[in-house]
Amino acid sequence: MHRHRKFWDQPNAFLPDRFAGIAAPWVQIPAYVPFGVGPRICIGLNFALAEAQIVLARMLSHYGVAIEAGPPVLPIGRVTIEPSHEPTFVLKPL
Ligand code: HEM
Repeated sequence: MHRHRKFWDQPNAFLPDRFAGIAAPWVQIPAYVPFGVGPRICIGLNFALAEAQIVLARMLSHYGVAIEAGPPVLPIGRVTIEPSHEPTFVLKPL
């Protein structure tokens, strides 16, 4: 559903800006269900979002992140979408 052309413009493109200005897109966009939906929705949703913001803010205030040159990382569809291989990231102190 997260890659279906019926629901998304450029469904296979990595366009984080498609969510810009949309608070809680998993609530407002029915086709976007990163935490599931209904009675079995992820109970860690709010914790995960708070944790991710804290970790990213702490990390990006100290380091720049770059990806090492190599083959492009492609989405592989299994039960969930997985990266085709684990890319190597380099952290550079700011
Ligand atoms: C970005 C992070 C996370 C994502 C994307 C995520 C996603 C999901 C998804 C898709 C489900 C399945 C919902 C369903 O069956 O319909 C789920 C269930 C669940 N998640 Fe998460 N989750 C995340 C983080 C966490 C964290 C941090 C915790 C605990 C601290 C957690 C605990 C659970 C539990 C216990 C369930 C099972 C709920 C049930 O079956 O009633 N998750 N999560």
